[in-house]
Amino acid sequence: GSHRGQLILVEGLDRCGKTTQTTRLVEKLASQGHKVELVKFPDRSTPIGKLINTYLCDKAFQLSDEAAHLLFSANRWELAATITETLNQGTFVVLDRYVYSGIAYSAAKGLDFDWCASPDKGLPQPDLVIFLTMSTEKLNQRSGFGGERYEISEFQGLVKEKFDKFAAMESMRSIWNVVNVEGKSIEQVGNDVWGLVEGLLQGTSQPIHKFLA
Ligand code: TMP
Repeated sequence: GSHRGQLILVEGLDRCGKTTQTTRLVEKLASQGHKVELVKFPDRSTPIGKLINTYLCDKAFQLSDEAAHLLFSANRWELAATITETLNQGTFVVLDRYVYSGIAYSAAKGLDFDWCASPDKGLPQPDLVIFLTMSTEKLNQRSGFGGERYEISEFQGLVKEKFDKFAAMESMRSIWNVVNVEGKSIEQVGNDVWGLVEGLLQGTSQPIHKFLA
């Protein structure tokens, strides 16, 4: 019939295995005969994405926190129509980061949470969010953070607090799922992720919801 694809988002702190898991998920969906596309945010290939890449990699590049926030949101709006079209053609879209990263990282810098959420209002709302996380204790023990702007343990703890706010929000209750990756192999986390996605494989005839609208 007129079934659309489902919008599946994998969110998480830096270095939680998010990109590994989204890649595996896309491969598994494809291997089962589903049409599927992967969209990663920030998409650093667009005009706005190129600015974001410079901002993330070059600490001398000056941008106010507000301006940076709006660029990340604009980067999502650049791709919103394409994502909607893809879903409506019956293709699954797997997102690697999205609005929740946008809000959590900026709010962790001290920007107002609701202000941070407002430019994303109306974007396609994921049908399923899988949040990959670990305890703050474990987070603090991790080494090997790279040189990008936000890869500092302390800051990651603040980001985690902001992400955890979504888990408590009434409007997120039906879509927000937490997967603790602590002490788990890639395969084990992959099984947890698949367990959440398995129920959605038939697609849906429901219209695409809009984020916070
Ligand atoms: P990445 O490592 O997944 O490419 O993301 C780059 C960094 O950008 C990461 O530290 C998270 C951060 N980020 C934001 O601050 N706001 C956003 O809206 C997104 C999508 C990512």
